[in-house]
Amino acid sequence: MTETFDFPAGFVWGAATSSYQIEGAWDEDGKGESIWDRFSHTPGRVRDGDTGDVACDHYHRWAEDVALMQALGLQAYRFSVSWPRILPAGRGAVNPAGLDFYDRLVDGLLDAGIEPFVTLYHWDLPQALQDEGGWPARSTAEAFVEYADVLSRRLGDRVTHWITHNEPAVTAYTAHFHGAHAPGVRDMATALRVAHHLLLSHGWTVELLRRNSPGAEVGITLNVNYSVPASPGAADANLARRHDGMWYRWFLDPLVGHGYPADVVADRVAEGALPPEGLDVVHPGDMAAIAVPIDFMGVNYYRREVFRDRAAAGNLPQVVFEPPQSAPAWTEMGWEIYPEGLYHVLRRLHQEYQMPKLYVTENGCSFSGGAGADGRTNDRRRIDYLAGHFAAAAQAIAHGAPLAGYFVWSLFDNFEWAHGYAQRFGIVWVDFETGERIPKESALWYQRFIFAQSEKEIEK
Ligand code: FCB
Repeated sequence: MTETFDFPAGFVWGAATSSYQIEGAWDEDGKGESIWDRFSHTPGRVRDGDTGDVACDHYHRWAEDVALMQALGLQAYRFSVSWPRILPAGRGAVNPAGLDFYDRLVDGLLDAGIEPFVTLYHWDLPQALQDEGGWPARSTAEAFVEYADVLSRRLGDRVTHWITHNEPAVTAYTAHFHGAHAPGVRDMATALRVAHHLLLSHGWTVELLRRNSPGAEVGITLNVNYSVPASPGAADANLARRHDGMWYRWFLDPLVGHGYPADVVADRVAEGALPPEGLDVVHPGDMAAIAVPIDFMGVNYYRREVFRDRAAAGNLPQVVFEPPQSAPAWTEMGWEIYPEGLYHVLRRLHQEYQMPKLYVTENGCSFSGGAGADGRTNDRRRIDYLAGHFAAAAQAIAHGAPLAGYFVWSLFDNFEWAHGYAQRFGIVWVDFETGERIPKESALWYQRFIFAQSEKEIEK
């Protein structure tokens, strides 16, 4: 199967994680509380009352984990830094033990021949900053610059790829409109302020990261799925447009200097979430700051989203987002498996947005099922999922998309936010009682795949 994929020389194969989802050690060695500590400790917020207090215990097992990555042949590892481990109060006093932890991790990775891709913000805001207003406040964007400076001064001589934010749309909407993620706010006007401050903090740090980390590439990761109408009818098309606008274009457009999309502004004004004059938190110069050129865009792709306006179809009460019944396969998250969507998304970012370089910074699937009596975890469906998406990525490259690397989500089964430990995305099984790690069949398949790719490269 591996022979059918053609990836360019130097293409990077890796896996991704994030701090709160794997580290544990939530209050050790001077770390401050994060909004996810607070949220998961609040009854009713996370399924089964799960928390990231221990998670994969990566904070203590990092050396073993790096050895495992090396054994699997990973060429790159995308992880995020816990802001409150570095600056427990969000700004001001630095926690040396926090910096030391990531310093050792980066050195360990480099010694193992693994390139670190560092995400600055993957959702674990210091609670102290939340108490001062959180992302709806401009001061949080200012604090982010201070954090980025402290971190990149320490790691900038060794880290070659920086990602400012992971999926700002999820922080804006899932956390501040749907209320399903920390801090659990439900207000669209607030969500739009959050989106602006996330983008602004990104824009403010790009040059600083380049300065502190000479030669490094700086980008941002957006979630971009493939949204399509269920039928050619106007009602379905409008639903798909609204979703695509709110979740994807609201972030993509300002990053390339197009400002916030007018049709989405109109949607929000019509709903009363925005005044006719638009967003009140936009200061002169902000949009230019957000549009600072980036070296790459990271894209997290998981699924196709099909829109059907059931109200327009006649007898149903409301408008819903609904994948078609004929969808061939689903993951345990209820997400449709649709590899071609990755092809379309990569082509879109290349053609419509002229992104100079792309990385798939997350792609993967949730399937449970532990190790059998023989100790092997057979996750054939995950292998099929990955193989399908690799083929789609190769096809996008063949059609010109400047894709330079791919990261499986995730290296480990981990704390899947509001789903707790019920959703397992890892290519490595984690026993959350003992902390034991067991590579699943998919990890061994990926190992062979990466090996075969590098053999080809040597032949070239
Ligand atoms: C993405 C997140 C990641 C994980 C996957 C399943 O939205 O960035 O942390 O939750 O989804």
